[in-house]
Amino acid sequence: MSKRVFVTGGGSGLGRALALRYAKAGYRVAIGDINEARLQEVSDELAALTSESLSFKCDTTRISDLENVRSKMTEAWGGLDIVINNAGIAGASGFIEDLSLKSWQTLIDVNVLGVVRGCKVFVPLLKDQRSGSVINIASSAALMTPPLMSAYTVSKASVLGLSETLRYELSPFGIDVHCVCPGYFKTNLTESLESNGAAMADFVTRVMERSPITSEDIAEQVFQLQESKDFLLIPHQNERKLWRLKRWLPKWFEKKAKQTAQLMVEKLS
Ligand SMILES: NC(=O)c1ccc[n+]([C@@H]2O[C@H](COP(=O)([O-])OP(=O)(O)OC[C@H]3O[C@@H](n4cnc5c(N)ncnc54)[C@H](O)[C@@H]3O)[C@@H](O)[C@H]2O)c1
Repeated sequence: MSKRVFVTGGGSGLGRALALRYAKAGYRVAIGDINEARLQEVSDELAALTSESLSFKCDTTRISDLENVRSKMTEAWGGLDIVINNAGIAGASGFIEDLSLKSWQTLIDVNVLGVVRGCKVFVPLLKDQRSGSVINIASSAALMTPPLMSAYTVSKASVLGLSETLRYELSPFGIDVHCVCPGYFKTNLTESLESNGAAMADFVTRVMERSPITSEDIAEQVFQLQESKDFLLIPHQNERKLWRLKRWLPKWFEKKAKQTAQLMVEKLS
C-alpha cells in the first residue's frame, strides 16, 4: 500500500506544494488548514492527482482538531507514515519594546505549540508501528537570528530545538526527524505579518519576491529527505553558505550581521 502523509497548513504556499509533491509520487495525502476556501482549492487539486486524499479544517492551536485528524486517518488509512508540521504565521515584527506580549503569545501558540501538538498527537502512531518520519518546518531565522524579528526567530529556534531533541528521543523507535530552515520564498505568509509600519511589510514582500527558489523547489528538496535522511535541510544556497560562515568565521559573521542590522534600523525606523 502507498505511504500516508499529513501536512498542516496545506492550503497555501509550502504546505500546498508539499501536498501536491507527495500526491504526484503516489502517496495518500491528507491536508489540514484553517482557511477553508484555500483548503478546498488544494483539495480539488489533490483530487485531480489521486483518488485517495483527505482534507480537514484543522487549527493547530486546537489539539482536538489534530486528534480528529488522527482518528479519521486511522479509520480511513490505518494511520500515517509522515507528519509535516508546516502551519505557521509571520506574526509580529519590529523593535522589542513595540512587540506586545499578546503578539508573542500568538506566535508561540501557532509556530511553537502548533508543532508540539502535531508531534504529541501523531508520534504515538509512529511509535506503535516503529517507523515513520516527522518533518518540522522552521526557518533560516532560527539559524541567522535577524534583527527586528525576535518573536518569529524565537518561535523558529524553538522548532529547531524541539526537532533536535526529538531526533534523538525517537531514534530508538525507528522514527526519523527532520527540520527544514528555508530563507524567504514567495507565498501568502505576509498576510499574517503584523508590523508597526508598512516598511517592514514592504521589506519582507521584496525579499520574498527576490527568492531564487519557489515553494515547489523546497517541496522537492523536502521530498528527497526520505533518501538522504539528513536532519537539517537549508534549501536556499545563500543561507547554507551563511550558516557555514557563522560557524566557521564567527567574528566575520558578527561584523556583517551588525552592519546589516545598522542598515535595517536606519531603513525601518
Ligand atoms: N515564505 C517564507 O518566506 C518562509 C520562510 C521560512 C519559513 N517559512 C515557514 O513555512 C511554513 C509555511 O508558510 P508559507 O510561507 O507557505 O505561508 P502561507 O501563509 O502561504 O501558508 C501557511 C498556511 O498555514 C495556515 N495556517 C496558519 N495558521 C494555522 C493554524 N493555526 N492551523 C492550521 N493552519 C494554519 C494558513 O492558513 C496558510 O494556509 C510556515 O511555518 C512558515 O513560517 C516560510
